[in-house]
Amino acid sequence: MELPRLVVGAILVDRLDRPSRVLAARRTAPPALAGRWELPGGKVEPGERPEDALHRELAEELGVEVRLGAELLPDDGGTWPLTPGLVLRAWWCELTTGEPQAGVAHDALCWTTAADVADLAWLDPDRPLVARIAAALAAR
Ligand code: C5P
Repeated sequence: MELPRLVVGAILVDRLDRPSRVLAARRTAPPALAGRWELPGGKVEPGERPEDALHRELAEELGVEVRLGAELLPDDGGTWPLTPGLVLRAWWCELTTGEPQAGVAHDALCWTTAADVADLAWLDPDRPLVARIAAALAAR
């Protein structure tokens, strides 16, 4: 059996030390996922460090550079399941260069708060992370 492919995601917040807003991105493709919101990111290439992949994806998709903070780990300390054959690792991060711009992968970006982050139509696999993120934003 093949190992699951790793996807990396950004929990891009206004500031790492006292986050109050997180960036959500609305997908344009594939058709089954278009219109749903996600934590931006993408697949790690063979031989690529996950953290490097996250920087690359954020530069490609949003045109920004970020500083990475802690990884948001699931309770079992492993990875977050996505679809069969895909797992997610996600890091808190903050902007160091640029303002996020929706490119080809996304047609809208939205800074959301603890009060409204859960109201978006998130991809189903992102929902457990969103619940944890909402709690962290509310607790600041
Ligand atoms: O962005 P990309 O299409 O490379 O992501 C691969 C797959 O990972 C998506 O089709 C989607 O099913 C899943 N995904 C997700 N949540 C994310 C990013 C990707 O469920 N934040």
